[in-house]
Amino acid sequence: MASSIFFIPPVNMIGTDCLKEAASTIQNYGFKQALIVTDTVLNKIGVVAQVQELLAKQGIKSAIYDGTHPNPTTINVKEGLVLLKQHQCDCVISLGGGSPHDCAKGIALVAANGGEIKDYEGVDQSAKPQLPLIAINTTAGTASEMTRFCIITDVDRHIKMAIVDKHVTPILSVNDPSLMVGMPKGLTAATGMDALTHAVEAYVSIAANPITDACALKAVTIISENLRTAVNNGEDIDAREAMAYAQFLAGMAFNNASLGYVHAMAHQLGGFYDLPHGVCNAVLLPHVQTFNAKVSAARLKDIAAAMGVDVKGMSDEKGAETCIAEIRRLSKDVNIPAGLTELKVKEEDFAVLATNALNDACGLTNPIKASHEEIMAIFKAAM
Ligand SMILES: NC(=O)c1ccc[n+]([C@@H]2O[C@H](COP(=O)([O-])OP(=O)(O)OC[C@H]3O[C@@H](n4cnc5c(N)ncnc54)[C@H](O)[C@@H]3O)[C@@H](O)[C@H]2O)c1
Ligand SMILES: [Fe+2]
Repeated sequence: MASSIFFIPPVNMIGTDCLKEAASTIQNYGFKQALIVTDTVLNKIGVVAQVQELLAKQGIKSAIYDGTHPNPTTINVKEGLVLLKQHQCDCVISLGGGSPHDCAKGIALVAANGGEIKDYEGVDQSAKPQLPLIAINTTAGTASEMTRFCIITDVDRHIKMAIVDKHVTPILSVNDPSLMVGMPKGLTAATGMDALTHAVEAYVSIAANPITDACALKAVTIISENLRTAVNNGEDIDAREAMAYAQFLAGMAFNNASLGYVHAMAHQLGGFYDLPHGVCNAVLLPHVQTFNAKVSAARLKDIAAAMGVDVKGMSDEKGAETCIAEIRRLSKDVNIPAGLTELKVKEEDFAVLATNALNDACGLTNPIKASHEEIMAIFKAAM
């Protein structure tokens, strides 16, 4: 096995009502003026005011950038940077799901390194750590609040750039499930399936190691036991808390073992048609794993076992089939669309989507290499 490096924020708070504790931790860092990066929905429902008040009690002033688009763009990063400079902020606080976290990472990275966010596409392209970033999470989830991944849509090329850089790791991540109870059913399902995809892709990745394996399998188990309840009864704080832990575990897995073709392909759908990330992943996941099963059957069988299936006596091939069937069953139970046709994806775009997917850094650790034709075929099967 090749040697591993393990990335994770130095401090991570998880659990109901941990937000209050987080505010005093932020004060201990000595910051005076924060830029809160969020979106209009969270501002409207009062979550931003709640955080601003907690910060004010600790003597920390804050300016708000609430223009983050779901699938944040190069324009969002530029707009946030203008505010950050205007208010001479000494730290950035992201508040929301993956979109505000990624947007905040883009802002904080460019604030420290100069240039523009496009300059940092790829792996570890920056020279310096970003401006300190504290990430308060409201979905479960992308795990962006604790990863070194930053995904920004380039509005000129209509592609999602993967910026994989140790320098975008937040200094503190906060997962308070009481901020997650308001998530609507569709968002709960999509973000939960994103977390499942992180765990599955990390587990079959060529960069998997014993630490990421343990995190991935535990995440799979918690998600299969709790996602349906979190979707059907959003007020169930135990299910919400379980999902917060699961998405964090899945984040620990993929932050270090990286991902695969599901994400490489989903990023293209998100960038091209502006579709929700978790939904794209959920639709592609069984199709990519069917392709991967040629080499990953034993690993997929482990995932079936983690989902509660009794795999004793099953061949690896049968285990992989069962795993894929279980993933489909979960997707269906939480009302994920059946295919890409429902999402208005067009076959005529497959060639360019496949070319861009093969250039996405997330595909580098997929267990088996695909040709351009094979990626096109997977898109087609997912229609
Ligand atoms: N950096 C990473 O490690 C990583 C990993 C996976 C995905 N991503 C990226 O994350 C983005 C998707 O993030 P997401 O799925 O968390 O959604 P999001 O951040 O785009 O939010 C989607 C919508 O949900 C709303 N919302 C968020 N929390 C809510 C709450 N608690 N209650 C009510 N509404 C709420 C938002 O206001 C927004 O309108 C994509 O751009 C994807 O590429 C990043
Ligand atoms: Fe994801």
